[in-house]
Amino acid sequence: MSFKHFITFLLIAAMAIPQTKAQLGFLTALLPSVTNIQGTVFCTSKDNLPLKALSNPLFPNAEVQLVCGEKEFSKATTNDGGNFSMMMDPLLLDLSSLLNGCNLVVATPLCNCNTNLPSSGTLISTLNFVGINRVATQTIAKIIPSGFHYVPST
Ligand SMILES: *[C@@H]1O[C@H](CO)[C@@H](O)[C@H](O)[C@H]1NC(C)=O
Repeated sequence: MSFKHFITFLLIAAMAIPQTKAQLGFLTALLPSVTNIQGTVFCTSKDNLPLKALSNPLFPNAEVQLVCGEKEFSKATTNDGGNFSMMMDPLLLDLSSLLNGCNLVVATPLCNCNTNLPSSGTLISTLNFVGINRVATQTIAKIIPSGFHYVPST
């Protein structure tokens, strides 16, 4: 579900249920308590769309930065499974700015996971909105990379 579809869905849902509850639900959904950006980095310079990436080797210990404009907003390091997770305060950066103005940039060169791969250039991905989950008292907006691709340095 894209972010636009999600908002449309919310509007329709809000019209279908009684007013006060609808307004509360709407606000909670638009202002999640946490935004979680999570994904997997693969050790490859080929484009890795999430679905066809499974056969690629993983990239552990890679520094993944959230870059918006020229500014680094957050960073995380991948674990042994190439996975990373960044918890963001939605008040610091709302979903729409995040999805429209930010990229995930892998700062660690590819040669760190495979010496045959380049020591310059970076893996970059835009962001995709997946949905909002409620976990206990928190509402968590989940965002994943749309797929990393290798950009050579110029
Ligand atoms: C990494 O993430 C994938 C997909 O969510 C999961 O299947 C795998 O178990 C995770 N591995 C580690 C080591 O966290």
